[in-house]
Amino acid sequence: QAGAAAAVIYNNTTGDLNGTLGDTFTLDFAAVGVTQTLGQQLVARVSSGLTLRIKASTFRGMATAENIIAESVWGDPTNVVMAGAHLDSVSAGPGINDNGSGSGALLEIATQMRKVKPKNKVRFALWGAEESGLIGSEYYVDNLSAAERKKIALYLNFDMVASPNYVRFVYDGDNSAFPVGTGSAPGPAGSGAIEQLFHDYFASQGLASRETPFSGRSDYGPFIAAGVDIPSGGLFTGAEGVKTADEAAVFGGTAGRPYDPCYHQACDTINNINKQALEEMSDAIAHAVITYAFDTSSLHA
Ligand code: PHE
Ligand code: ZN
Ligand code: ZN
Ligand code: ZN
Repeated sequence: QAGAAAAVIYNNTTGDLNGTLGDTFTLDFAAVGVTQTLGQQLVARVSSGLTLRIKASTFRGMATAENIIAESVWGDPTNVVMAGAHLDSVSAGPGINDNGSGSGALLEIATQMRKVKPKNKVRFALWGAEESGLIGSEYYVDNLSAAERKKIALYLNFDMVASPNYVRFVYDGDNSAFPVGTGSAPGPAGSGAIEQLFHDYFASQGLASRETPFSGRSDYGPFIAAGVDIPSGGLFTGAEGVKTADEAAVFGGTAGRPYDPCYHQACDTINNINKQALEEMSDAIAHAVITYAFDTSSLHA
């Protein structure tokens, strides 16, 4: 069963800030060290042209968030395979699909990995404070030394993998489906190979898969940032987006309805989990983790 995501992390007390392209905000995050990266995140999001609606601006009464990071005892520490999922939810609801699903899948895979002596080191991350602007993953990446950063062969991200009206989406790491200018960013070299591994896996199971923009809208964002350049990829079963007739023909479900009608709402409970989706995605995640745990050469092909 998917583990429940942690509940409310931030207790933001003041009104909304609305911004558009080019705006910058000066916010006071002095109270808690980890949130200093949020200011940069806001600027980055505005300058990338995404619509911005952020609850700000003081963080009185805020709790501290933590990343939970665990790695295999075995494996080459100079060639690290990372897989992550955010553990927090929005405050509106319990966040079971977003993202108890990804967290639960990784916890199960980590448990099963105890039977394996991987050739490469495998590191699992359960991120804190994704919903407040990728705070946990940004903090982690910002605090890697150049030497530690170079040892990370790739990063795999799993955010929402059991949506009720799901599509098997693979992040478009090579920009083949969503070229630059459509909200997708070009991934670091190797990201296309990760995408291909997932498509090939689904095909081997007789399952269709599609692509979703490599938008940086989850914890892989800091890993693919300029100057970090860690090949990344991942899976997603859909959020507030609406399923097309074509997708319904291929994947079943209901056209004209959101992939997850309870996205960021109180109804994102255990009843919001599509068990078939969770099963299929978890197997695909396990396949990717175990493949890279033994061989990352396809990233450099
Ligand atoms: N990162 C988003 C969240 O946690 C999920 C998402 C990713 C939604 C990409 C849409 C597109 O809410
Ligand atoms: Zn979310
Ligand atoms: Zn999420
Ligand atoms: Zn692609």
